[in-house]
Amino acid sequence: MASEFLWYVIPREGAYPWEPEGRRPVDLGYLRQLAGAVDRLGFSGALLATDLYDVWPLGSALAASTSPRFKPLLAVHPGLISPTLLAKTALTFDALFGGRLRFNVVNGSTRALKEYGLHLEHDERYALSAEYWSIVKRLTAGEVFDHHGRFYRLENAGASLRELTPVQEPYIPLWFGGSSPAGIEMAAEQVDVYLTWAEPPHLLKEKLDRVRERAAAHGRRLRFGLRVHLIVRDTEDEAWAAADRLLRVTSEATYARQLGAKAAEDGVGWQRQFGGHGGRVPDRARELEEHPNLWPGMSLFRPGPGTAVVGSTAQVTDRLREYESLGIDTFILSGNPLLEEAYRVAETVLPALGVRV
Ligand SMILES: Cc1cc2nc3c(=O)[nH]c(=O)nc-3n(C[C@H](O)[C@H](O)[C@H](O)COP(=O)(O)O)c2cc1C
Repeated sequence: MASEFLWYVIPREGAYPWEPEGRRPVDLGYLRQLAGAVDRLGFSGALLATDLYDVWPLGSALAASTSPRFKPLLAVHPGLISPTLLAKTALTFDALFGGRLRFNVVNGSTRALKEYGLHLEHDERYALSAEYWSIVKRLTAGEVFDHHGRFYRLENAGASLRELTPVQEPYIPLWFGGSSPAGIEMAAEQVDVYLTWAEPPHLLKEKLDRVRERAAAHGRRLRFGLRVHLIVRDTEDEAWAAADRLLRVTSEATYARQLGAKAAEDGVGWQRQFGGHGGRVPDRARELEEHPNLWPGMSLFRPGPGTAVVGSTAQVTDRLREYESLGIDTFILSGNPLLEEAYRVAETVLPALGVRV
C-alpha cells in the first residue's frame, strides 16, 4: 500500500516560530492559504496540535475552505470535556464537512492539565483515556448505551445524538502518540494509528515491535505513523547550514525554558527525544547527528516533535524509505515556514517517493 502524507498546521508559525521575531502574525487568511496549499499539493490532510489556539474553531475554518481530500487530524486531551459532548462536536463536524475528522489522542502532561482541573498522574491519565475513548468510539458509531465505569457513569448515552447520523464507519478514527508502557497498552487496545516522533531506526523498530505485539495480544493490528520535521535542501551542506542557523537564532531564554521546565515533563516520548542531545547545545548542529541525517536538535528549542531529517532531497527520501521499511505507512511532515516548506517538500521529496498529486 502507498504511504499517506500529512502536513502540519499551527497558527503561530514562521521561519523559527519559537522566537517572537521568527513568527508571522496569526491570521486566518494565511492559515486558509496554508491549508489550501497543503490540500492542492498532494497531502491528505494536516495535524493540528494542541497549542495556544484551540483546534476546533481552526479545524472547522480550514475544513470549510478545503476540498474533501483535506482531512484534519485534531489533537484532543481526554477528560477535559464530557465524552458525550466531544462526540456531539465531532459528529457535527463530520456532518457538516463530509466525514473528514480524525482524532489525535494526546495524553498531555501532569503539570499542564492541572490548569484545567485534571489532577491525574501519568499512568492514571491513560486509565482515564482508555475509558474515555472507548465511550467516544461507541458514541461516534451511533450507539446508545449505559456506561458504569471508573471515571464515568452515563445513562442513555447517545440518545440525544441519534439523528446525528455518523458519516464514518465504524467510528471516527483514533490516532495516538505516546511511548510509555501505559501509553502503548492503551494504544494497543483502543487506537487505529500509532504515531511516534522520529528516533534512530533500531530504537524505533524495538518500540514498534512492542506495539505490534501488544496489539496482537488484543487481537488487533494498527497502522504506524511518523511525525517528523524536515530540513531539506538541494545539498546536504545547505541543509546542515539551515540547521546551524536555527541554533544561532534561538535565544538563551528559549534554550533555558526548553531545557529547564520542559525537560522535567513526565512524558516518556519526550525523555527519549531528550536523550538524543542530553541538554547540550552544540556549536555545530551536525555534532548531534545520531543516525545519518537524523538530528534531535530541534527539541533544544521547539516543544513537541524535536527530531528532524536533515539533508539533500535524495538523503531525506532515503531516510523516509528506511522508516517505511520498518512498517511506517503514514508520515506527518513539517518544515518552517510551513507554507514555503510544504511547497518545497511537495515538489522534491513527495515526487521522489512516488506520490502523485
Ligand atoms: C505525533 C505526536 C503528537 C503529539 N501531539 C501532542 C499535542 O498536540 N499535545 C500534547 O499535549 N501532547 C502531544 N503529544 C504528546 C503525547 O500526547 C504524550 O503526552 C507524550 O508522548 C507522553 O506520553 P508517553 O509518556 O506515553 O510518551 C504528541 C505525541 C506524539 C508522538
